Amino acid sequence: MKDLSMHIMDILQNSTRAKANNITLEVLENHDADTLTLIFKDDGCGMSKETVEKVINPFFTTRTTRKVGLGLPLLKQNSEMTGGSMTIESELGVGTTVTAVFGLTHLDRPPMGDLAGTMVLTIAAHPEIHFVLHFQRIKEGKAETDYVLDTDELYEALDGVSLQEPEVMSYIKEMVEENIR
Ligand SMILES: Nc1ncnc2c1ncn2[C@@H]1O[C@H](COP(=O)(O)OP(=O)(O)OP(=O)(O)O)[C@@H](O)[C@H]1O
Ligand SMILES: [Mg+2]
Repeated sequence: MKDLSMHIMDILQNSTRAKANNITLEVLENHDADTLTLIFKDDGCGMSKETVEKVINPFFTTRTTRKVGLGLPLLKQNSEMTGGSMTIESELGVGTTVTAVFGLTHLDRPPMGDLAGTMVLTIAAHPEIHFVLHFQRIKEGKAETDYVLDTDELYEALDGVSLQEPEVMSYIKEMVEENIR
């Protein structure tokens, strides 16, 4: 079974392929509502209404290398299996927001997997894109964890040191892991 970070890699890839300059991922772990929500927002090429409708159908893809696009349909299926949902809001030339809600403690919810590693790999592969990761864990009405990784701040802190350096990458990965633990 897929873990959530594999879905995340997939959906982020859709945004990078859509030529987004800004990509935001919100991971909201709400223990009160028993939901795990992923919100992907990009300012890429967007999709028409017709495309959004077709995208839910696994036999639609604009990829030419492969016949079947599975990213979004699989995310939809997996979220619905946990009592959640997946919605797409998109406008041509403006951007796309994909929201996936999972039942946090539902037995069929895939584990998060390596969120930190997935983010750092994606960020390092696209130094030209501004990424923001917002991770929030809500318990008893309070944000127990509230962490933002903003690549504008990251690159400023790195002060010219490349994120592609393996040691830098694993350092940043550990930093993210520590902050969302
Ligand atoms: N963020 C986005 N911006 C613009 N178009 C998108 C976005 N996400 C998806 N699409 C469009 O929806 C199609 C289907 O996406 P989906 O992730 O389901 O499959 P895929 O990316 O084509 O293939 P796969 O994910 O299996 O590699 C894409 O080919 C693309 O045309
Ligand atoms: Mg995809």
